[in-house]
Order: sequence, then structure tokens, then C-alpha cells
Amino acid sequence: MVGWNGALRIYWILTGADGSTTHNDWQLSNEGVERTFQHSQICFQTRQAAAVQLPDNLGMQIQIPPFDTRELRSVFGKFVTGVTVITTVDACHKAHGLTVNSFVSVSLDPPLVLWSQSKRAASYPTFMEVDEFAVSILSEEHIGVATTFAKPHPDKFADVRVNRAFCGLPVIEDSCAWLYCRTITRVEGGDHTVHIAEVIKAAKSTARPLVFGAGEFLAAQPLSIT
Ligand SMILES: Cc1cc2nc3c(=O)[nH]c(=O)nc-3n(C[C@H](O)[C@H](O)[C@H](O)COP(=O)(O)O)c2cc1C
Repeated sequence: MVGWNGALRIYWILTGADGSTTHNDWQLSNEGVERTFQHSQICFQTRQAAAVQLPDNLGMQIQIPPFDTRELRSVFGKFVTGVTVITTVDACHKAHGLTVNSFVSVSLDPPLVLWSQSKRAASYPTFMEVDEFAVSILSEEHIGVATTFAKPHPDKFADVRVNRAFCGLPVIEDSCAWLYCRTITRVEGGDHTVHIAEVIKAAKSTARPLVFGAGEFLAAQPLSIT
């Protein structure tokens, strides 16, 4: 990479044909290697980066140590987001919903959004089958709602104020904004599926948004620049 003078740490294990293993821990300058994180305590290089550095003719199997999932989650958590509840209704008219912070806007023209869903979520089969869903962008009054919809429960809607007037699907009352969407494509993304959807209808209120970062619910405050 041009313009970066750091070094890259690559930890790799070579397994020989006789079953022997060699553990390697290299500090490399980054010619031809994609830059990752300079200050991380864990080894962040990509599989591709390792493949670029290693000679083709070793004839050995390369194993990259797996990421520490908890550490990676806490790194991802540094990216602060809003908080939504995404809802739908299945073929038996049962409402489903979950707390989601992977929601992002994609395009204005055409109006597109996306969100990613864990394949382990109880509502995953429903969202794979049903295309229409509603997004409620939660307000700072909604920590309780966000917590309720972040846990599996047979009836998350029992104690939450919702209305169906917006689009026929349940949306959370007093949210900052609501979107009615239709999934147009789904993309496999490891242990998640990314739902990409067109926006059919959108509305907003004057409520202030709930924020999530570093594993905590936060309130958005304007910073005055003097
Ligand atoms: C702030 C926050 C954001 C979350 N974002 C997502 C997300 O983007 N995608 C996802 O699949 N789960 C996300 N979750 C976890 C789900 O809300 C949780 O697994 C929930 O139990 C899923 O509901 P279900 O099992 O009833 O489908 C988030 C949880 C919290 C607290």
C-alpha cells in the first residue's frame, strides 16, 4: 500500500505432509499487503493478505488463527449506530420483531435500505419468507422497548404500544421515524443474511433518537463547535 510505513504482524501455522506443524510469527513491511489495524492487540490480517505473502511452492496447508469473537464484537461496537425495531407478520398473522442496529440507508433513488439478521434469530425463518417489513427508528424513550425486542419471547408485543395505521404492520409508537419496506434481494453474509429492501413509505416525528455504541444505549447530544 502506498503511503503507509508500518509493519504487519502475521501469525501462521504450516502443516507439513508428515503432520508436523511450524508456528510463525512475522512482522512484515506492507509492500503489497492490504493495511489492517496498526494498534490492535489481536492479529487482524486477512486471509488474502497472508496468501499474498507466502510463496506458492511451499506445498503446505496454511491455517490462519480464528479471530477472538468477543474482541471483534467490541471493535465493531465502536461504530455507533441508531437503534431500530424491525417487525413483520407471518402467514398465520403472528407478529414478529427484533431489535436491530445493522439497519442502514443505501440509496435515495431508488430508495433502498438494508439490514443484516443473524441466522440464529428465532424470527429468521419468517424474515426469509416474508418480504414486507416495518422499521421503527427508536427514540431515547425506548430503552425498554429495545431491550424487550432483543430477547427471544413468545409475545414481545404484549406490553409495548404499537399501531398498525401506518402500513398495516405493527410499528412502535413514539418512534423517531418509521419505514415500510419490501425486501428485493437477500445476500448471504456468513452467520447473517443481509436483507436489501425498497422503501414504500416513510414518516418521521420530532422525537430524539436512541443511540447504541460500545455495548451501551446512549443519548445523542449536539456538539457545539466554537
Ligand atoms: C442494540 C442491539 C442491536 C442488535 N442488532 C441486531 C442486528 O442488527 N441483527 C440481528 O440479527 N440481531 C441484532 N440484535 C440481536 C437481536 O435483537 C436478538 O438476537 C433478538 O433476540 C432476536 O429476536 P428473535 O430471536 O425473536 O428473532 C441486536 C441487539 C441489540 C441489543
